[in-house]
Amino acid sequence: MKRVKLVVANWKMYLSVHEASLLTNRLDKVIKVHRDVEVVLAPNYLCLQPLSVEIDRRKFRLAAQDGFYIDDGAYTGAVSLSQMRDLVHYAIIGHSERRRYFHESFDEVRDKVAAAVRNDITPILCLGETKEERAQKETKQVLHDQIVTALSNLTSEDAENLVLAYEPVWAVGASEPASPDTIAAAVDWIRYQVRELYGQKTEASMRVLYGGSDEPEYVSGIMAIDGVDGLLVGRASLNYESFNDIVTAVHLAALSETND
Ligand code: PGA
Repeated sequence: MKRVKLVVANWKMYLSVHEASLLTNRLDKVIKVHRDVEVVLAPNYLCLQPLSVEIDRRKFRLAAQDGFYIDDGAYTGAVSLSQMRDLVHYAIIGHSERRRYFHESFDEVRDKVAAAVRNDITPILCLGETKEERAQKETKQVLHDQIVTALSNLTSEDAENLVLAYEPVWAVGASEPASPDTIAAAVDWIRYQVRELYGQKTEASMRVLYGGSDEPEYVSGIMAIDGVDGLLVGRASLNYESFNDIVTAVHLAALSETND
């Protein structure tokens, strides 16, 4: 099955509103519209409203980097997925930095996935093992537990639109991505879990991304891995040239698939 490729720029807690607007402007000048690649920008909350007005919607979509699972109420400091429903198409959920620094639990991740779906926002659910878990040979168990908990409130129809991102924690912010063999094995296992839960049809329509030290020179190798539909990019998305190189390389990967 042919799935539209997806490249997500995770700008994390970088860039002021002004800087985000400048970067978007530069990206708009260099990035071409490719029908086979969807490009998504995930700035901080403050930037979502201004960027939603500025972006060329044929080129870019917006994602939140997180969002609270209760729609409204007395929750000081929180921004709900419901409040962002008209601003974003996607929300990154369960990023390892949220799990690590904000102590986000499996149950919170499950509730956020459900809140996104309830508010017509597509979750980009991050999955991945730590270095210690990998050393203990717990990768499969960790991925299984993350998937089963996070998807436990979803129907197979909800799940079809979901995006899963394999982001081994040890490869995020590192000097190079995980090896193609490591990514291939994890993506196979993730797709197998989804098939077990929801069947072949759901698994075949679901997109799986890889994230962790994506740089332009690694993209063609990663995109050649069976079952990988795109990338979740951190540092390299803060530079318009390297992000454009990544989008172009993903487009070339999509083209070569069509020609196969
Ligand atoms: P990185 O971040 O590309 O800087 O490793 C990836 C991510 O956290 O999504």
